[in-house]
Amino acid sequence: MIIAQISDTHIALDTPDADQRVRDFERTVADINALDPAPDVIVHTGDIVHNGRQDEYAQAVATLAKARAPVYVLAGNKDNRANLRAAFSAGGYLAPDSDFIDYAIDDYPVRLIALDTLSPGGNKGDFCPERVSRLIDLIDAEPSKPIAVFAHHPPFEVTVGPDPLHFETPEMMARLRQALQHSGRVVAVISGHVHRGTAGHVGRIPATVMPSTATTLRKGEYPAHMKTRPVYHIQRFDPVWGFATEARIVGTGPCSAC
Ligand SMILES: [Fe+2]
Repeated sequence: MIIAQISDTHIALDTPDADQRVRDFERTVADINALDPAPDVIVHTGDIVHNGRQDEYAQAVATLAKARAPVYVLAGNKDNRANLRAAFSAGGYLAPDSDFIDYAIDDYPVRLIALDTLSPGGNKGDFCPERVSRLIDLIDAEPSKPIAVFAHHPPFEVTVGPDPLHFETPEMMARLRQALQHSGRVVAVISGHVHRGTAGHVGRIPATVMPSTATTLRKGEYPAHMKTRPVYHIQRFDPVWGFATEARIVGTGPCSAC
């Protein structure tokens, strides 16, 4: 099974780099479309848009409509739950009456569980006791398959960059960590938010963070020729070896539109 990850596209319509953010997003989708073998699924791990506005979501939906693989989206701290839900309702996987944007997808050899770590009004993550019980219910709904969990905010200490903790309190991270370890079947935790690529562990579960798709917001040092080349992650799952993560540079493969 192959999962292509997009994250932190931060689509905005009135910033000086607005066109570049759209271009980075479109080139990444085009590059994913040209992958051989094709990915089974694409997951956008949040901060889809920058101000939570309907017109920004309309742009993001138009870009993701060009993707060949099925797309699932998460809410990041810059997203607005109601506007995100309205924009992506056609996918049918977002419950219309839920307080949170969390769900499980059971169509693949690995179950995909998306978490809602959004704290309205704040940039850091939140994981309240209600979300813990919702996560445990999602995990327990199917007893046999391995699970990949997607969370915008990385639930582990990120040792690169200025701030190691991306949740509001260590207690939130601790209860999320315990819930993720509860079944023993979560085999990967996949995040964004930090805008730089890194990796770590949630207990014994391998965890990765991809750089922001928006190159103007990307953190970390890149050579000059990569200034406007997005980097995204391909997550390949093997039943024996688990997940292997490949960082892929847009425009270096067979894609003629990238
Ligand atoms: Fe972001």
